[in-house]
Amino acid sequence: MTGDAAPLVATRVSPFLQERVTWVRHWTDALFSFGTTRDPGFRFSSGQFVMLGLEVDGRPLPRAYSIASPSWSNELEFYSIKVANGPLTSRLKLIQPGDTVLVGRKATGTLVLDALRPGRTLYLLSTGTGLAPFLSLIRDPDVYERFARVVVTHGCRTVADLSYAALIGEDLPADPDLGELIGERLIYYPTVTREDFRNAGRITDLIESGRLFADIGAPAFDPAADRVMICGGPAFLRDAKAVLLARGFEEGSLASPGDFVIERAFVDS
Ligand code: A2P
Repeated sequence: MTGDAAPLVATRVSPFLQERVTWVRHWTDALFSFGTTRDPGFRFSSGQFVMLGLEVDGRPLPRAYSIASPSWSNELEFYSIKVANGPLTSRLKLIQPGDTVLVGRKATGTLVLDALRPGRTLYLLSTGTGLAPFLSLIRDPDVYERFARVVVTHGCRTVADLSYAALIGEDLPADPDLGELIGERLIYYPTVTREDFRNAGRITDLIESGRLFADIGAPAFDPAADRVMICGGPAFLRDAKAVLLARGFEEGSLASPGDFVIERAFVDS
């Protein structure tokens, strides 16, 4: 080998794409959303999550985040809590348009349409930032091709926490592209547990009492017709899953589609 040959340098492809923040919206002291650019090569299915983070001290600091934008969109959107002293979110909450965030190259997750058997009504049950994957799905035309009705619940402590109320309740049904498809078929059911509101109480209790179904004019849960996705805090997942299992629903996955699928609202730091 001659001395002037180029040295062999192992080039490692980073597991992260660098995306630019395009907007930031702070809903409350504890909740915010932001948008980023999307690498044209980045693929995902509506409802999936990805590793997202910042470079801190020269190293990636990532957490799993559900993607809140639909798979057809050329931007990515995320919905996050702000945890005081949380290693990632205490930094992430300071991002501004133009800043760079790291987005993992590979999306994954169980809250995808292909993990469910065909059905008539799709229930999307969420608490807190567990709404995020459903913000992706309810903006995906595929959902309305597969289901006659889509019911999205969002359970929060206070009315101020119902971040996407205007988007879901008003903007989407009036959207020039999606509005016609959505029409009356998207039902938004926000509920609040720690102050007065038109819907009050935990989602699980509203299901058990039948109040949810009475309010939206639907028959009670039926595994022959209804499909369910669940996303939120660990206690909510446990209790909501128990409610479904008691009614004969079977958990699904991509390998074996079923009547319901479940995923944690990940970010807690
Ligand atoms: P609650 O106020 O009765 O605890 P958090 O902010 O703690 O994640 O809670 C978000 C929402 O989820 C709150 O309305 C909370 O109600 C509700 N929640 C918490 N645990 C459960 C559970 N096990 N089943 C149903 N809802 C729950």
